[in-house]
This record gives sequence, structure tokens and C-alpha cells, in this order.
Amino acid sequence: MVKSVLGVVGGSGVYDLPGLENAEWVWVESPWGDASDSVRIGYIDGLKTVFLPRHGRGHVHSPSTINYRANIDVLKRCGVTDLVSVSACGSLREDLAPGMFVLVDQFIDRTFSREKSFFGSGFVAHVSVAAPISPNLADSIEKAAKAEGLSYHRGGTYLVMEGPQFSSLAESELYRSWGCDVIGMTNMPEAKLAREAEICYASIAMITDYDSWHPDHGSVDIKAIVKVLHENASNAQRLVSRLAKDFPKERPACPVGSDTALDHAVLTAPDA
Ligand code: ADE
Repeated sequence: MVKSVLGVVGGSGVYDLPGLENAEWVWVESPWGDASDSVRIGYIDGLKTVFLPRHGRGHVHSPSTINYRANIDVLKRCGVTDLVSVSACGSLREDLAPGMFVLVDQFIDRTFSREKSFFGSGFVAHVSVAAPISPNLADSIEKAAKAEGLSYHRGGTYLVMEGPQFSSLAESELYRSWGCDVIGMTNMPEAKLAREAEICYASIAMITDYDSWHPDHGSVDIKAIVKVLHENASNAQRLVSRLAKDFPKERPACPVGSDTALDHAVLTAPDA
């Protein structure tokens, strides 16, 4: 069994986690550079919980300028074993309406301007991200969503685009033809780096819009997104608080090996 420490990365509209007891903002140094912000460390029903606002308080980092390596490294240094990502996204499906939460289980990574690995020259490792989401953590999130009576959908493919501009109509249609369900700008390389850091990862995608494809909804508009975010941020916070309250203080090993990802991934010889 593993003693659990819950991490939460808050996306657009989610810059704090109310309900943390004995909480303080702590700046954590990382050899990978500066994280997006200090982390807020506290306890929810006795469970150590570490919150990091992905874009920084005041929303100062764009999806392409976030230092994802530093963020994951800082969370690892705080002892995080299980990381929940909260992020805004567009819907690529009629039945996934703005306001819903999607617990995605796959990603297509179309980002191209970000550092994506802790490993490079001198030390080489290739981890598997065939199953990027840790199913037990996703189960716990689903239970929390049910307990809070929130509208959610389990499963789906999240297309991660570079941004910061939204998609053209042709791109939006292309991603729909690929079978993608939601689109956003931030879950990669975050999920890949969490795997390299052997942290269990699951993602709550908050739908804010219908991206660019929907004939009745026109193009994506940041004002409309912010409106949905404001209406929904408290639901996201409720969901995460419930998750933390009910989260096991000790949990079994991850069935998809998130927490042992490096066991068979390193290629570099020990004496190289
Ligand atoms: N974040 C929120 N809505 C989005 C969209 N339509 N595309 C990319 N990222 C988003």
C-alpha cells in the first residue's frame, strides 16, 4: 500500500482550493526552473493535499509558456502520489454540453513547442503512456462526482492543441473525424511528465464551449468561456473537495503501473 498525498492542478478559473485546513502557500525550488506559482499545501479530512494553479494566480502563464516540468517536479517534491488535473476544454460532441465534466481516458498530443520529458542526453528512458489515466484515481473522481450530483461523462479522448489561438473550423472537423471528444491546451505534456515522475494522473475536463464546429454556436469566444467557468469553478472545487474527503489515506499499487513506470524504462547503462 502507498500512503497517499493528493495533488490538484487547477486550470483556468480555478486558482485556489477552499476547504484546505492549516494551509499555506509555499514556494518550492526546482532544478527545472520556476513552477507556475507557489503551491498551497494543507489538509482535507487528514489527507495531505497540494494545490498548484497551472496558470499562476492572476492567470499569467499561457498554455505554451507553462513550465510543465517544474510543475510536476515541485508536486513530486511535495510528496504527491495522485494528481488530479482540472482544466477548461471545448466539446467536439453534441451530447457533451458546456457545464459538464468529462473524465477523459485518452489523449492525442498535438503540442509542438513544449519540453516534454525529464530524460534526454546522458540519461535516456522511455515510459509507456498507452494508458495515460490511472483508473483507480478516475474511479474515485467518478464516485465524488456522483456524490455531489454533478453532470459528468466517464471516458473520452482529449485532443491537446498548442494554442493559444482556438481551432479553425477545418481543424475542429478534423479532430471530430478522428473520434476526439474534447479539446484543450494543457493536459500534455503534463500527463506524460506525471508518468515519468511515477505519479498517478487523472483529468477532469470542464466543458466551456463547442469549439469551432457547431453550426448553432459560432466561433469560440473567451467571454462566453469565462462565463461558464465562473458558473462552474465552484462545482469543480466541490468535486475536488469531496474527492479529497473520501480519498483512501493508503491506496494499492496502480493497475496500469503509473507508480512504477520507470522500472523497465531506463536504457542508459548504470555506469555510463
Ligand atoms: N479551452 C476551452 N475551450 C477550448 C477550446 N475550444 N479549444 C481549446 N482549448 C479550450
